[in-house]
Amino acid sequence: MTDAFDIGPAPLAQTDSTTPFSAAADVRRLTQSLWSSALVQAAVDLRLADLVGEGAVRLADLAEAAGAEPAALRRLLRALSAHGVFRRTGDDEYAHTPFSRCLASDAPGSVAHLVGLAGSDWTWTVWHRLADTVRTGEPAFRTAFGKDVYRYFAEDDPQAGAVFNRAMVESARWTSGPVLDALDLTGTGTVADVAGGSGSLLRLLLERHPKVSGVLIDAEQVLGQAEPALTQGPLAARCSLVPADIRKELPVAADLYLMRQVMHIWNDEECVQVLSHCASAAPPGARIVVVEHLLADGPRRDSTFSSLLDVQMMLLGTGRERTEREFAALFEAAGLRYEGVTRIPSPLQLITARAPG
Ligand SMILES: C[S@@+](CC[C@H](N)C(=O)[O-])C[C@H]1O[C@@H](n2cnc3c(N)ncnc32)[C@H](O)[C@@H]1O
Repeated sequence: MTDAFDIGPAPLAQTDSTTPFSAAADVRRLTQSLWSSALVQAAVDLRLADLVGEGAVRLADLAEAAGAEPAALRRLLRALSAHGVFRRTGDDEYAHTPFSRCLASDAPGSVAHLVGLAGSDWTWTVWHRLADTVRTGEPAFRTAFGKDVYRYFAEDDPQAGAVFNRAMVESARWTSGPVLDALDLTGTGTVADVAGGSGSLLRLLLERHPKVSGVLIDAEQVLGQAEPALTQGPLAARCSLVPADIRKELPVAADLYLMRQVMHIWNDEECVQVLSHCASAAPPGARIVVVEHLLADGPRRDSTFSSLLDVQMMLLGTGRERTEREFAALFEAAGLRYEGVTRIPSPLQLITARAPG
């Protein structure tokens, strides 16, 4: 299945029929993607996409609105335009392109917050230390900042934490529709969204299924930022919020347990711990659906996106992406019966197990 987030066949996988010179040019281009990423990050930092309106805008006006030095901004826009992000419509006049529109904060399908996350200082710090992490096996985040990422956000840099959370909400929008399209809720009374964050997936699920009740489980401080629609208005009567540290307990009985992008923040031992709590709480036959990226079992090539995310998890902490076989082993180790994978048109896939009985 095509991964919408894949950046296409890796140039290095295609070098068989090319000359050494074009292979070197491909590697060089791959390396320069760091610069290209920085261009887009600067455009978002300067809010250029929000400041360019429907028509063309003059450089001097854009520079004033962005608080930028005009000659430097011209050079940034030249490089962005070369990538198809904004286009020059005349001497010192620029307009939107489809690429630049996605950077506007209010655009449908905006990726502005995800770009902001890629441009966070800590992101550059940890990626810069990748070789050290590969040498030592130590997550670069812990080496650089002395603590794990969620504690760092809470104790040292709530602003970076807010950027991260906004990016997660933006990213979730890409996958919620396909996940919910694929979930058959016939005969399902209660759905628990385990480590569900602000509850955006649960809200959409409850809107679609008026007879289903929902439970949002996460850390107490995260539940404090739950979507207002879950705590007030018509959905509130069908939804409860349960604070829990799911590494210690999962105190909720439900017909379906959803865990989207939760397993990938932990190592195998930690995952089995959480899934075992789930197995203890689940009524016989209850469904557990883990929603995660899948790495390839065997010699199949991985998508660039899933494999990059796996490296990001290695830089951040104990987490990782996994193959189907690895997920099946986690379920079995936790006393759950593995059922299989449902492929959906999304970078994430549904991996299902059942409580025994
Ligand atoms: C990557 S986010 C995924 C959020 C949500 N499932 C989604 O798809 O939008 C991981 C979530 O796990 C929660 N989490 C991490 N450790 C936890 C713990 N020990 N107990 C409960 N929740 C936890 C975090 O607060 C965060 O909301």
